[in-house]
Amino acid sequence: MLRLIGFPWFMSDKRDFMLYRQNSLEVLPTIPDCTVDMIFADPPYFLSNGGSTCQSGRRVSVHKGDWDQSCGVNENHSFNLAWLRECQRILKPEGTLFVSGTHHVIFSIGFAMQQLDMKILNEITWYKVNPPPNLACRYFTHSTESIIWAAPTPQSRHYFDYHAMKDENGGKQMQSIWSIQPPRKQEKRFGKHPTQKPLELLMRIVKAASRPGDLVLDPFSGSGTTGIACALLERRFMGIEMNPDYLTIARQRYLSLDEETLVEERAKSFRKPASLAARTLKAPPPREPGLFDGLRTPGLGEDDDRPGPPDHD
Ligand SMILES: C[S@@+](CC[C@H](N)C(=O)[O-])C[C@H]1O[C@@H](n2cnc3c(N)ncnc32)[C@H](O)[C@@H]1O
Repeated sequence: MLRLIGFPWFMSDKRDFMLYRQNSLEVLPTIPDCTVDMIFADPPYFLSNGGSTCQSGRRVSVHKGDWDQSCGVNENHSFNLAWLRECQRILKPEGTLFVSGTHHVIFSIGFAMQQLDMKILNEITWYKVNPPPNLACRYFTHSTESIIWAAPTPQSRHYFDYHAMKDENGGKQMQSIWSIQPPRKQEKRFGKHPTQKPLELLMRIVKAASRPGDLVLDPFSGSGTTGIACALLERRFMGIEMNPDYLTIARQRYLSLDEETLVEERAKSFRKPASLAARTLKAPPPREPGLFDGLRTPGLGEDDDRPGPPDHD
């Protein structure tokens, strides 16, 4: 049995979906070295600093929460270095890490990865179809986010399901520009998270860099989008989030996944030409004893709402 700080806030009956209500900087150091197959992190972007943006045609202030306020470049960077260092330590040698961000945070993330001697594999651009207009009319309309994909060391031999990605792209190599719509209304039916990621984005990431049965971690899990993608794709999931309202949304989203939805979504994601199906549908390797083994359940635990960066007049 592996010892983690406290008990999870929520754990599924099958012990394959866990949520921790804690600060990532406290939980990550309790996870043993080389135990996680894939990490997706959508950290604070540090952009809630009094700016404004356009939402449904109206000017609204950009304040996603105190967690998103900047503490100054140096402190923001120290924070990024601290959690990235832990992610590097807990990733298996074949494992990889995806981090999303806008210009407010992504340069610090990239620099921290270089300082930690990680291997940057790709810089993916997520083109956010139909972005909110720029009210000041003094900037190009903000319409993209970056996602840096990295392996823990320069020697890493990372896992990548090239064929699944090619298949998803109609038989052509998947490029690093992804055109994906903001989360659908349906994805927000249990409540809104101000920076919720589209499920389609996470489905692609989880599919590309992990296998069924793998352990996927999200240290800033918010409304649990990464976990939902994992449940649909049969990966084990561990999410860390400080805000109980967001944890409640994540739990609801998970509990609403009835058998019918699971079968439907899995069938969609496994629809492949026969030759590829034979290669990628073979049984996953037996899974190693994982983080969830030996833990007990403690009783129980339409629009893109991430406004673009502030329009400074
Ligand atoms: C950008 S949002 C993630 C949104 C998520 N990807 C989704 O689809 O809903 C970042 C989340 O990290 C949480 N957070 C911020 N600092 C944290 C920390 N130190 N430890 C754990 N969670 C944190 C915030 O409450 C927020 O929900």
